[in-house]
Amino acid sequence: MNRPASTLDASKISTPAFVIEETLLRHNLGVLKHVKDETGAKMFQALKTWATWELFPVCREYLDGTEVSSLNEARLGFEEFNKEVHIYAPAYKDEEFDDILKYCSTIIFNSFDQWRKFKPRVLASGKKVECGLRINPEYTAGHSGLWDPCAPGSRLGVRISEFKSALKADPKALEGISGLHFHVFWDKNFADLKKAIAAIEKKFGAYIPNTEWINFGGGQMITNDDYDVEGLIGLINAFQKKYDVKVHLEPGAAIVKNAGTLVSSVLDVVERDDVPYKIAILDMSFNAHTPDFLLSRDLDMPVRGATIVRNEKKLKKGSCAYRLGGGTCVTGDVLSHFHVFKEPLKPGDRIVMEDGIQYNMVHCTMFNGVQHPSVVLWNDLPTGQAGGKPTTIRTFSYNDYRSRMG
Ligand SMILES: Cc1ncc(COP(=O)(O)O)c(C=O)c1O
Repeated sequence: MNRPASTLDASKISTPAFVIEETLLRHNLGVLKHVKDETGAKMFQALKTWATWELFPVCREYLDGTEVSSLNEARLGFEEFNKEVHIYAPAYKDEEFDDILKYCSTIIFNSFDQWRKFKPRVLASGKKVECGLRINPEYTAGHSGLWDPCAPGSRLGVRISEFKSALKADPKALEGISGLHFHVFWDKNFADLKKAIAAIEKKFGAYIPNTEWINFGGGQMITNDDYDVEGLIGLINAFQKKYDVKVHLEPGAAIVKNAGTLVSSVLDVVERDDVPYKIAILDMSFNAHTPDFLLSRDLDMPVRGATIVRNEKKLKKGSCAYRLGGGTCVTGDVLSHFHVFKEPLKPGDRIVMEDGIQYNMVHCTMFNGVQHPSVVLWNDLPTGQAGGKPTTIRTFSYNDYRSRMG
């Protein structure tokens, strides 16, 4: 499946804005549906990555439901996506559990203690709800500790030693558990999944045949153009046959990667004589709108029409090199890397951040009272006509800021 080209004309966008291109979103969803169709695996949209519910009617054409991590996400998935809702959270609250039961079709527990605690309420509910256990295979894929679910001391999932001792203490500890779940990385390719699966089979393989499903989590960039989709299909089919289970996947980033942008405008350009670059101040904030990028200084923030240079010493004198800075008063509200444009930037120029949607919209704050980016859908014009047009889904006002402060 060839990825269609973006038709976005950023000059038509009032900034700042998260812009989702429907044609590109449908391309990604089509790739995921192809995996589903060829394997019978179930595919859930991870709402923690992106949850623009006005577009759920598009997503539900392709996917089986939502993967959620809180009561609020569960309700959104239930009410707006209106298909299966699978929840995983590190721990559930007593006072929320009745509503969790109301909204969710599958509940995944993080520990045997949590499972033991809530099992009687699951059974008493009389509702047909499936229960699962998150495992921690202690497989690390090379992420830094902040982002590695299997890092030493991680609170996520049951390790094999804990799994075995729980079963030793109570051979019926898994009674009522119909599936296992793992989530071990982000932004990874098929080769990484193969390695992770091999490690998981080595540790937990003996327990998989007793389950009905196993959830491979998210973190696979299935919709990237260079992803080995057919390899994934082969692996899922072989895994399902070997263990007689159904595979579940819960992609987040793969749904919106390359399907949307964060568009901002240059407000001012500041020149300093002690650095070989200029600083472009934007009508957005990296602190407030892209916190993942500030937390992970090694992540690149691709900008349309610009090349990234990480090493200040490699910037050529006289080039159009810029450090992009946000509009808050925080010193660190700047990117750590540099963008070299073809032309000098000037106030009013649009800055189109390519990977603008995943984890940004959901993390956004109104810190410093900065304008929250609006949410815009970009649709191609009818076949035969070039270009597209924006439809604003939501804008944010002073009242949105005020209502969160008290
Ligand atoms: C349990 C779980 N499932 C799915 C996802 C989605 O991952 P991604 O957006 O990398 O595909 C995450 C992300 O943190 C997660 O924690």
